[in-house]
Amino acid sequence: MDFKEINLENESLNLFSMLKNDWFLLTAGNEEKFNAMTCSWGFLGVMWNKNVVMPVVRPQRYTRELINSHDYFTISFFDKKYKKELSFCGSHSGRDMDKMSQVELTPVFMNNAVFYKEAKLTILAKKLFVNQLDETSFIDKSLLDNYKEKDFHYQYIGEIIKSYK
Ligand SMILES: Cc1cc2nc3c(=O)[nH]c(=O)nc-3n(C[C@H](O)[C@H](O)[C@H](O)COP(=O)(O)O)c2cc1C
Repeated sequence: MDFKEINLENESLNLFSMLKNDWFLLTAGNEEKFNAMTCSWGFLGVMWNKNVVMPVVRPQRYTRELINSHDYFTISFFDKKYKKELSFCGSHSGRDMDKMSQVELTPVFMNNAVFYKEAKLTILAKKLFVNQLDETSFIDKSLLDNYKEKDFHYQYIGEIIKSYK
């Protein structure tokens, strides 16, 4: 498979647009069982002197179960032409179906994680930390409108282990 390892620090990425407009797939599991969900919120940054990613996942997501039971997860970015695939993975749950049989994405299993042949950038992350947002910590209470069902996001901080184009 044609994956080229890159150093993310040398890339000039338009991160805000990549997250907000293009979205990404958050995938956890392995060849036996895996699942992917679409995300548009999250962070890439530095913590504990490590380059990290931080997706935020609501409690009811099936993907969360797989993140919890595996040490690694991936974050994959795609060209706009895959928006249909990402919309599908962001509106159906892997609890009810095998999403991959419904989308034109090709999973590739390596490094104890799941990559996609079609992705333009994939980040492999090792789970370091998880924490659920706490209602009492919100300074701007208007943000609580995002949590009508009290389904506060879990923040997963993962160390960036490898990045591939
Ligand atoms: C554009 C877009 C962005 C999304 N961002 C997030 C997110 O950051 N966190 C989250 O928990 N759900 C997010 N979702 C919702 C999940 O992708 C969706 O509920 C998905 O069906 C969960 O799949 P799962 O149950 O198989 O894990 C987003 C959906 C879309 C369409």
